[in-house]
Amino acid sequence: MQVGELLAGLDLATRASAERPYTIVNFVASADGHAAFQGRSRWLSDDADRELFHGLREHVDAVMAGTGTLRTERYGRLVRDPERRRRRAESGLSPDPVACIISRSGVVPTDIPLFADPDSLVVVFAPGELDTSNLAAQVEVVRLDPGELTLTTMMRRLRSDFGVRTLLCEGGPILFGALLREDLVDELFLSIAPKLTGGGSAPAITAGAELSELRVLSLVWALELHGALYLRYSTTS
Ligand SMILES: NC(=O)c1ccc[n+]([C@@H]2O[C@H](COP(=O)([O-])OP(=O)(O)OC[C@H]3O[C@@H](n4cnc5c(N)ncnc54)[C@H](OP(=O)(O)O)[C@@H]3O)[C@@H](O)[C@H]2O)c1
Repeated sequence: MQVGELLAGLDLATRASAERPYTIVNFVASADGHAAFQGRSRWLSDDADRELFHGLREHVDAVMAGTGTLRTERYGRLVRDPERRRRRAESGLSPDPVACIISRSGVVPTDIPLFADPDSLVVVFAPGELDTSNLAAQVEVVRLDPGELTLTTMMRRLRSDFGVRTLLCEGGPILFGALLREDLVDELFLSIAPKLTGGGSAPAITAGAELSELRVLSLVWALELHGALYLRYSTTS
Protein backbone atom coordinates (compact mmCIF):
# COMPACT_ATOMS: atom_id res chain seq x y z
CA MET A 1 0.00 0.00 0.00
CA GLN A 2 1.31 3.45 -0.93
CA VAL A 3 0.40 6.84 0.53
CA GLY A 4 -1.51 7.89 -2.61
CA GLU A 5 -3.74 4.79 -2.43
CA LEU A 6 -4.55 5.48 1.21
CA LEU A 7 -5.51 9.08 0.49
CA ALA A 8 -7.65 8.22 -2.55
CA GLY A 9 -10.50 7.16 -0.27
CA LEU A 10 -10.42 10.25 1.98
CA ASP A 11 -13.89 11.70 2.27
CA LEU A 12 -13.49 14.60 4.65
CA ALA A 13 -16.10 17.10 3.45
CA THR A 14 -19.06 15.01 4.58
CA ARG A 15 -17.69 15.18 8.15
CA ALA A 16 -17.87 18.98 8.40
CA SER A 17 -20.33 20.46 10.86
CA ALA A 18 -22.28 23.68 10.29
CA GLU A 19 -20.15 25.45 12.92
CA ARG A 20 -16.64 24.89 11.63
CA PRO A 21 -14.57 23.05 9.00
CA TYR A 22 -13.49 19.46 9.60
CA THR A 23 -9.90 20.09 10.62
CA ILE A 24 -6.89 17.88 10.02
CA VAL A 25 -3.32 18.59 11.06
CA ASN A 26 -0.19 17.26 9.37
CA PHE A 27 3.29 17.03 10.91
CA VAL A 28 6.53 15.17 10.48
CA ALA A 29 8.65 14.45 13.57
CA SER A 30 12.03 12.87 14.15
CA ALA A 31 12.21 9.62 16.13
CA ASP A 32 13.41 11.69 19.09
CA GLY A 33 10.33 13.91 18.92
CA HIS A 34 11.52 17.11 17.24
CA ALA A 35 9.58 18.98 14.55
CA ALA A 36 12.61 20.47 12.80
CA PHE A 37 16.32 19.99 12.23
CA GLN A 38 18.52 23.03 11.68
CA GLY A 39 15.33 25.12 11.75
CA ARG A 40 13.58 23.31 8.90
CA SER A 41 11.15 20.38 8.72
CA ARG A 42 12.31 19.41 5.24
CA TRP A 43 15.35 17.51 6.57
CA LEU A 44 12.98 15.16 8.41
CA SER A 45 10.81 14.53 5.36
CA ASP A 46 11.19 11.92 2.61
CA ASP A 47 9.43 11.11 -0.68
CA ALA A 48 6.46 9.35 0.92
CA ASP A 49 6.02 12.16 3.46
CA ARG A 50 6.08 14.71 0.64
CA GLU A 51 3.47 12.62 -1.19
CA LEU A 52 1.33 12.73 1.96
CA PHE A 53 1.90 16.49 2.39
CA HIS A 54 0.87 17.31 -1.20
CA GLY A 55 -1.80 14.59 -1.28
CA LEU A 56 -3.56 16.09 1.75
CA ARG A 57 -3.52 19.52 0.11
CA GLU A 58 -5.30 17.93 -2.83
CA HIS A 59 -8.25 16.91 -0.64
CA VAL A 60 -9.16 20.06 1.31
CA ASP A 61 -10.96 23.37 0.75
CA ALA A 62 -8.39 25.40 2.70
CA VAL A 63 -4.84 25.16 4.05
CA MET A 64 -3.60 27.01 7.11
CA ALA A 65 -0.12 27.60 8.52
CA GLY A 66 1.19 29.80 11.32
CA THR A 67 3.09 32.94 10.46
CA GLY A 68 6.29 31.34 11.84
CA THR A 69 5.97 28.43 9.42
CA LEU A 70 5.01 30.63 6.46
CA ARG A 71 8.11 32.70 7.08
CA THR A 72 10.52 29.78 7.59
CA GLU A 73 9.22 27.59 4.81
CA ARG A 74 8.60 30.47 2.34
CA TYR A 75 5.15 29.28 1.24
CA GLY A 76 4.14 29.71 -2.41
CA ARG A 77 1.14 28.52 -4.46
CA LEU A 78 -0.35 25.66 -2.49
CA VAL A 79 -1.02 23.21 -5.34
CA ARG A 80 1.64 23.69 -7.97
CA ASP A 81 1.09 20.50 -9.94
CA PRO A 82 -1.52 21.08 -12.72
CA GLU A 83 -2.46 17.39 -12.60
CA ARG A 84 -3.39 17.74 -8.91
CA ARG A 85 -5.38 20.91 -9.66
CA ARG A 86 -7.21 19.04 -12.44
CA ARG A 87 -8.06 16.21 -10.03
CA ARG A 88 -9.31 18.72 -7.46
CA ALA A 89 -11.59 20.38 -10.01
CA GLU A 90 -12.85 16.97 -11.18
CA SER A 91 -13.84 16.10 -7.62
CA GLY A 92 -15.79 19.35 -7.23
CA LEU A 93 -13.16 21.42 -5.38
CA SER A 94 -11.74 24.75 -6.54
CA PRO A 95 -8.43 24.13 -8.38
CA ASP A 96 -6.51 25.97 -5.64
CA PRO A 97 -7.32 25.65 -1.94
CA VAL A 98 -7.84 28.85 0.02
CA ALA A 99 -4.77 29.84 2.04
CA CYS A 100 -5.72 30.85 5.55
CA ILE A 101 -3.59 32.90 7.93
CA ILE A 102 -4.21 34.20 11.45
CA SER A 103 -2.04 36.77 13.17
CA ARG A 104 -2.47 38.50 16.49
CA SER A 105 0.49 40.81 15.92
CA GLY A 106 -0.71 41.82 12.46
CA VAL A 107 2.82 41.23 11.16
CA VAL A 108 2.11 38.96 8.20
CA PRO A 109 5.02 37.86 5.95
CA THR A 110 3.63 39.33 2.71
CA ASP A 111 7.06 38.96 1.07
CA ILE A 112 6.64 35.19 0.65
CA PRO A 113 5.92 33.81 -2.86
CA LEU A 114 2.30 32.97 -1.92
CA PHE A 115 1.36 36.67 -1.96
CA ALA A 116 2.96 37.12 -5.39
CA ASP A 117 0.81 34.41 -6.96
CA PRO A 118 -2.26 35.80 -8.79
CA ASP A 119 -4.07 32.43 -8.68
CA SER A 120 -3.99 32.21 -4.88
CA LEU A 121 -6.80 33.39 -2.63
CA VAL A 122 -5.43 34.25 0.82
CA VAL A 123 -7.74 34.99 3.74
CA VAL A 124 -6.00 36.80 6.59
CA PHE A 125 -7.53 37.15 10.05
CA ALA A 126 -5.82 40.02 11.81
CA PRO A 127 -6.50 42.85 14.27
CA GLY A 128 -5.92 45.59 11.68
CA GLU A 129 -5.70 46.38 7.99
CA LEU A 130 -2.99 44.92 5.78
CA ASP A 131 -1.39 46.82 2.92
CA THR A 132 -2.38 44.65 -0.05
CA SER A 133 -1.72 47.24 -2.76
CA ASN A 134 1.41 45.57 -4.15
CA LEU A 135 0.28 41.97 -3.75
CA ALA A 136 -0.62 39.91 -6.83
CA ALA A 137 -2.57 37.31 -4.83
CA GLN A 138 -6.24 37.88 -4.08
CA VAL A 139 -6.15 38.82 -0.42
CA GLU A 140 -9.18 39.16 1.85
CA VAL A 141 -8.54 40.60 5.26
CA VAL A 142 -11.00 39.78 8.03
CA ARG A 143 -10.45 42.37 10.74
CA LEU A 144 -11.32 41.23 14.22
CA ASP A 145 -10.95 43.05 17.52
CA PRO A 146 -8.20 41.50 19.65
CA GLY A 147 -10.79 40.03 22.07
CA GLU A 148 -12.57 38.33 19.18
CA LEU A 149 -9.45 37.14 17.37
CA THR A 150 -9.61 33.49 18.36
CA LEU A 151 -9.15 30.35 16.31
CA THR A 152 -12.77 29.43 17.12
CA THR A 153 -14.03 32.67 15.56
CA MET A 154 -11.72 32.21 12.59
CA MET A 155 -13.08 28.68 12.02
CA ARG A 156 -16.68 29.88 12.26
CA ARG A 157 -16.04 32.62 9.71
CA LEU A 158 -14.19 30.29 7.35
CA ARG A 159 -17.21 27.98 7.39
CA SER A 160 -19.95 30.61 7.12
CA ASP A 161 -18.34 33.32 4.96
CA PHE A 162 -15.95 31.31 2.76
CA GLY A 163 -17.73 27.94 2.53
CA VAL A 164 -14.72 26.05 3.90
CA ARG A 165 -15.79 22.50 4.81
CA THR A 166 -12.33 21.01 5.26
CA LEU A 167 -9.22 22.67 6.64
CA LEU A 168 -5.67 21.32 6.66
CA CYS A 169 -3.35 22.86 9.24
CA GLU A 170 0.33 22.38 8.45
CA GLY A 171 1.65 23.70 11.75
CA GLY A 172 3.75 24.94 13.27
CA PRO A 173 3.87 23.82 16.89
CA ILE A 174 2.58 27.11 18.35
CA LEU A 175 -0.48 27.07 16.10
CA PHE A 176 -1.13 23.35 16.67
CA GLY A 177 -0.94 23.80 20.44
CA ALA A 178 -3.40 26.71 20.23
CA LEU A 179 -5.82 24.70 18.07
CA LEU A 180 -5.75 21.87 20.61
CA ARG A 181 -6.42 24.24 23.50
CA GLU A 182 -9.51 25.52 21.66
CA ASP A 183 -10.51 21.89 20.87
CA LEU A 184 -10.57 22.45 17.10
CA VAL A 185 -8.66 19.42 15.78
CA ASP A 186 -10.39 16.36 14.31
CA GLU A 187 -7.43 14.38 12.98
CA LEU A 188 -3.65 14.27 13.11
CA PHE A 189 -1.55 12.88 10.26
CA LEU A 190 1.84 12.26 11.83
CA SER A 191 4.91 10.99 9.99
CA ILE A 192 7.66 9.59 12.20
CA ALA A 193 10.97 9.85 10.38
CA PRO A 194 13.60 7.21 11.21
CA LYS A 195 16.04 10.02 12.03
CA LEU A 196 17.49 11.51 15.22
CA THR A 197 18.25 15.19 15.76
CA GLY A 198 20.29 14.45 18.89
CA GLY A 199 18.77 17.36 20.81
CA GLY A 200 18.85 21.01 19.92
CA SER A 201 16.21 23.64 20.43
CA ALA A 202 13.62 22.56 17.85
CA PRO A 203 10.21 22.12 19.49
CA ALA A 204 8.00 19.06 19.54
CA ILE A 205 4.97 19.18 17.24
CA THR A 206 3.06 21.12 19.91
CA ALA A 207 4.14 24.19 21.88
CA GLY A 208 2.59 26.55 24.41
CA ALA A 209 0.62 25.79 27.55
CA GLU A 210 -0.04 22.19 28.51
CA LEU A 211 -3.62 20.94 28.06
CA SER A 212 -5.72 20.66 31.22
CA GLU A 213 -5.99 16.92 30.55
CA LEU A 214 -4.34 14.47 28.17
CA ARG A 215 -5.89 14.24 24.73
CA VAL A 216 -6.30 10.59 23.82
CA LEU A 217 -6.09 9.69 20.12
CA SER A 218 -7.51 6.73 18.18
CA LEU A 219 -5.35 5.22 15.48
CA VAL A 220 -7.13 5.18 12.11
CA TRP A 221 -4.27 3.73 10.08
CA ALA A 222 -0.54 3.08 10.26
CA LEU A 223 1.67 2.58 7.25
CA GLU A 224 5.36 1.66 7.35
CA LEU A 225 7.54 2.50 4.36
CA HIS A 226 11.35 2.31 4.34
CA GLY A 227 11.47 2.49 8.14
CA ALA A 228 9.26 5.58 8.40
CA LEU A 229 5.80 5.46 9.96
CA TYR A 230 2.79 7.32 8.58
CA LEU A 231 0.11 7.50 11.23
CA ARG A 232 -3.42 8.79 10.98
CA TYR A 233 -5.12 9.56 14.27
CA SER A 234 -8.61 10.71 15.09
CA THR A 235 -9.08 12.94 18.15
CA THR A 236 -12.44 11.34 18.96
CA SER A 237 -11.93 8.20 20.99
N1 LIG B 1 7.71 19.13 11.42
C1 LIG B 1 6.70 19.71 10.83
O1 LIG B 1 5.86 19.04 10.22
C2 LIG B 1 6.57 21.21 10.90
C3 LIG B 1 5.41 21.81 10.43
C4 LIG B 1 5.33 23.20 10.50
C5 LIG B 1 6.35 23.94 11.04
N2 LIG B 1 7.45 23.31 11.48
C6 LIG B 1 8.56 24.08 12.06
O2 LIG B 1 8.06 24.86 13.12
C7 LIG B 1 8.75 26.11 13.19
C8 LIG B 1 7.74 27.27 13.15
O3 LIG B 1 6.69 27.03 14.05
P1 LIG B 1 6.31 27.99 15.26
O4 LIG B 1 5.65 27.14 16.28
O5 LIG B 1 7.48 28.82 15.62
O6 LIG B 1 5.28 29.01 14.58
P2 LIG B 1 3.84 28.78 13.91
O7 LIG B 1 2.98 27.91 14.76
O8 LIG B 1 4.01 28.44 12.48
O9 LIG B 1 3.27 30.28 13.93
C9 LIG B 1 2.99 30.90 15.16
C10 LIG B 1 2.27 32.18 14.88
O10 LIG B 1 0.95 31.92 14.38
C11 LIG B 1 0.06 32.88 14.89
N3 LIG B 1 -0.84 32.23 15.82
C12 LIG B 1 -0.70 31.04 16.43
N4 LIG B 1 -1.72 30.81 17.27
C13 LIG B 1 -2.54 31.87 17.17
C14 LIG B 1 -3.76 32.21 17.79
N5 LIG B 1 -4.37 31.42 18.68
N6 LIG B 1 -4.32 33.37 17.47
C15 LIG B 1 -3.73 34.18 16.58
N7 LIG B 1 -2.56 33.92 15.96
C16 LIG B 1 -1.98 32.76 16.27
C17 LIG B 1 0.89 33.90 15.66
O11 LIG B 1 1.27 34.88 14.69
P3 LIG B 1 1.63 36.41 15.09
O12 LIG B 1 2.95 36.32 15.80
O13 LIG B 1 1.72 37.09 13.75
O14 LIG B 1 0.56 36.92 15.97
C18 LIG B 1 2.06 33.04 16.11
O15 LIG B 1 3.20 33.79 16.43
C19 LIG B 1 9.70 26.13 12.01
O16 LIG B 1 10.97 25.71 12.46
C20 LIG B 1 9.12 25.09 11.07
O17 LIG B 1 10.10 24.51 10.22
C21 LIG B 1 7.58 21.96 11.44
